[in-house]
Amino acid sequence: MVVPLALPEFHLDLNHPPFVYDPYPQLAELRETLPVFFDPVWNKVFFTRYEDIAALLRDKRLGRSILHVLSRDELGWPPPHPLTRDFDHFQGNHMLDNEPPKHTRLKGLMLKAFTSARVEGLRAKIQEIVDGLIDRVRDHGRMDLLKDFAEPIPVAVIAELLGVPEGDRHLLRPWSARIVKLYELGYTDEQAKDANQAVLEFSAYVKALARERRREPRDDLISALVRAEEQGEVLTEDELVANCILLLNAGHEASVNGTTLGMLSLHHHPDQLALAREAARRGDHEFFKTAVEELLRYDTPLPMFERWVLQDGEYRGVPLRRGMEIGLFYASGNRDPRRFVDPDALDLTRKDNPQLTFGLGIHYCIGAPLARVELQTSFHTLLKRLPGIRVARGPVEYTGGFIIRGHKAMPVEY
Ligand code: HEM
Repeated sequence: MVVPLALPEFHLDLNHPPFVYDPYPQLAELRETLPVFFDPVWNKVFFTRYEDIAALLRDKRLGRSILHVLSRDELGWPPPHPLTRDFDHFQGNHMLDNEPPKHTRLKGLMLKAFTSARVEGLRAKIQEIVDGLIDRVRDHGRMDLLKDFAEPIPVAVIAELLGVPEGDRHLLRPWSARIVKLYELGYTDEQAKDANQAVLEFSAYVKALARERRREPRDDLISALVRAEEQGEVLTEDELVANCILLLNAGHEASVNGTTLGMLSLHHHPDQLALAREAARRGDHEFFKTAVEELLRYDTPLPMFERWVLQDGEYRGVPLRRGMEIGLFYASGNRDPRRFVDPDALDLTRKDNPQLTFGLGIHYCIGAPLARVELQTSFHTLLKRLPGIRVARGPVEYTGGFIIRGHKAMPVEY
C-alpha cells in the first residue's frame, strides 16, 4: 500500500555493505537533516531520533502485527506464500508477532515460567559454560571469538533454561540460523523453503520434548509451560512450541552478535579496553554491568525494528494512516546527542544510559536479564582469563544483513 505523505522522501539502502559495516555516520546525518522521512522503495516512514522512537514504541496506536486489524486484501498483499506456510503459522503463535489481547496472554504465561529466580539460578551455569569454553582454547593463543566462544554460549544457556538434553544441543543453532533468514528485508525462495523446513523440524522436536516433560516433569521452562497448560491456563500446544522456538531464535542471534560487536568496539578504543582489563583483574563485577549497557548502546546488535499503524491519527504533525509501516532506528536513537552526552564516545562507566537496545513498551525484550548476565559474565571472564586478548590483524567481515547485524568470524589472539 503506497501512502502519499507530505514528508521528505529519501531512499536508504539498508543492505549496502558500507552502511551495514558502519551505519553510524549516515544515521547521524539523517538524525540532523531528516528526523522523519518516507522511503518510497521500502514504503515505510523512518524515524531517527531517540525521543520519537521512544514515544512511538509506547504508542498503543502502533503494533508489530497488522493482520488482526486489516485483511491481506485490504492491505493489497498477495495470498500467503505456500513456501512459508509453516513459518507463517509459527509467527502467528508467538508473542513477538502478536498484539493484545493475545500478546498479553502469551507474554504473561512466558513471564510466569521465565522468572527472575530462574535467570538468577542460571548465573553459576553460565559461568561454568564460559569457563569451559575458555579452558578449551586457552593454550592455543588464538581462536575465532564467534565460533569458539560467542556462538555456543546462548545455545547452551537457552538449552539449559528450556531443558534440552546435552546430546541434542548441536541441532539448535542451525535451525535458528535457517529460520531467522526470513527476518531480513529480502530473501530468496530457496531461503524461504529452507526456513519453512527448519520450522517444521524444530516444531516436531519441541513437541516431542513437551510430551516427554508431560510424562516426567523436571525443573525446566518447558515443564513449567506444560504445567501452565495443564492447569487450565490458555496455552495451546502450537503456542507452547512457537514461543519456545522464539526464545531460541531471539536468544541466539542478538547475544552472539552483541559479543563480537562489543569486542570490536573495545578493540577500537584501547583506553576503554585497558579500563575493562583492569576491572577484570580486580574482579569488579559492577564495572561490567555498566560496561555491557554501554557496549550494547554504542553498537546495537538489532539496529532497526518496524511497527504497523493500527488506527488513523497523527504524531507530531506526521499523519498516521492505518496500514502504514514505520521503521525505528534504535541504533540511531542510541547515538542521539539530545539524549546521550557525547554519544559517539565509548564510555564504559557511563551511568545515565537508557539505551533502546532491548526495545521499550509492551514488546520489551523478555530475555534482557538473561542476555545481560551472559554478556557481563563473558566480557568479565574473557578479560580476566585471557588478559592479552585482542582482535587479530586483518579486515573483519560482516554477515551482510542489517536487521540482524553481526560478523562472519572474529579471529582474536591472546
Ligand atoms: C543482546 C541480546 C538481545 C537483544 C539486543 C535483544 C533485543 C530485543 C528487542 C529490541 C526486542 C523488541 C523488539 C521490538 O521492539 O520490536 C526483543 C524482544 C524479545 N526478545 Fe530479545 N534481545 C536479546 C536477547 C534475548 C534473549 C537471550 C532472549 C531469550 C532467552 C530474548 C527473547 C526475546 C523475546 C521472546 C522477545 C519478544 C518479546 C515480546 O514480543 O513481548 N531476547 N529483544
